[in-house]
Amino acid sequence: MAVLVTGGAGYIGSHTVARLVELGRDVVVLDDMSTGHQEAVRSAELVVGSAGDPDLVSRLIRERRIDAIMHFAAWKSVEASVHDPGGYFAANVSTSVALLRAAAAAGVSSLVFSSTCAVYGNPDRLPVDEDAELGPSNPYGESKLLVERMLPWFSAGTGLRSVALRYFNAAGAALDGSNGESWDEATNLIPVVLRVAAGQAPAVQVFGTDYPTRDGTAVRDYIHVLDVAEAHIQALDHLATGGPSLVLNIGTGRGTSVLEILDRARSVTGCTIPFEDAPRRPGDIPEVWAATGRAAQAIGWRARYGINEILESAWRWHTTHPAGHRDPAPA
Ligand code: WQD
Repeated sequence: MAVLVTGGAGYIGSHTVARLVELGRDVVVLDDMSTGHQEAVRSAELVVGSAGDPDLVSRLIRERRIDAIMHFAAWKSVEASVHDPGGYFAANVSTSVALLRAAAAAGVSSLVFSSTCAVYGNPDRLPVDEDAELGPSNPYGESKLLVERMLPWFSAGTGLRSVALRYFNAAGAALDGSNGESWDEATNLIPVVLRVAAGQAPAVQVFGTDYPTRDGTAVRDYIHVLDVAEAHIQALDHLATGGPSLVLNIGTGRGTSVLEILDRARSVTGCTIPFEDAPRRPGDIPEVWAATGRAAQAIGWRARYGINEILESAWRWHTTHPAGHRDPAPA
C-alpha cells in the first residue's frame, strides 16, 4: 500500500517524502510544480498534476493502491493572500474539497492535513493551545481553517479520518545538506537572514521594533522542518492503527524574537548580518508560540531540535547550494 503526498516537491513535503522513503514506505508524489522542485523528490514517483483534479487523484488511488494521503499542496504566503484572497481560496480550499471527495469516494481511510498556527490570528493567551479561539487575520489562515472545519464532516460521514497539523514557523534543512528551502523566493525570516549572511542582500529589514515584547521585535515559535516531517509520520501511524481524527499544534513551545534570531545567526555563521529598522508588516502579530502537550499525549510527538540546529542546517544547505535545488547534490 502506498502514501499519496500532494505538494511533495515542496519544502516541507519533500522532507517528509524523504523520511517516508527512509522508513520503507511506497510514496507517490503529486505536485503541479508551480513552486515545487523536481530535484527535491528522491526515490519516489513524481506525478505532475493538480491535487484538485478528481479524475487524476481517483486514478492514482486505484492504480497505486493508495491507503493514506498527506496533503501539503497549497499556497502559503500570508502577505500574498491579502492581495489575492480568491486565488488562495481556490488553491487551498477548492483543491482540498476535490481531493477530499475523491479520497472518500475511493475508500481512503487516512489523511494528514498541513494546517497552520495562522488559524489563531493574534491569540489572547500564550502558549496557544488547540482549544484557543480561532480568528485568522489573513486569507491564508482563513483558507486553512475552512479546510479544517470540513474534516470532521468527512470523518463522521465517510471512512476518511484525519489529523490536521497546525505548523508554527517551519525552518531549517536536512542535517546532511541534501535538501532545504529554496531561498530565492522565500520571504520568511530565517532564509532572509541567511541570504544577508551570505552577502546576497545588504541588510535584514526588521519589520517593527516597537512591539510589546521583551526586545520590541516580534516573537515566533521556530520549528525544524525535520520535526515537522516526523510529526506527519507519527500522525499517519496514529491513523493507520485506527486512531480518531485530531487537530494538533506542531511547535517547540518556545518563542524567539527577530533580534534573537539575528544574534544566533551571527554566532552560527560568523557573519555580521546588518539590519535596519523597518515599519511593521501588515497582518503581523506581536508574539505567538505553541502549547505542545496534546501532540505529545495523542501521537507521542515532541520537537527534538532547537534554533541552533535550524540555523546550522539551513546555513549548511544554503552555503553548499547557493542556487538552491538547481545546484548539484554534494558529492
Ligand atoms: C517571522 C517574523 C516578521 C522577514 C509564517 C508563515 C506562515 C505560517 C506561520 C505555516 C515576523 C519578521 C520577517 C523579514 C522580518 N506557517 N520578519 N523581516 O509571518 O510568522 O508566518 O509562519 O503555515 O505560513 O508565513 O513568518 O518568517 O515571514 O516572519 O522582520 O525580512 O519575522 O515580521 O515577525 P510569519 P515570517
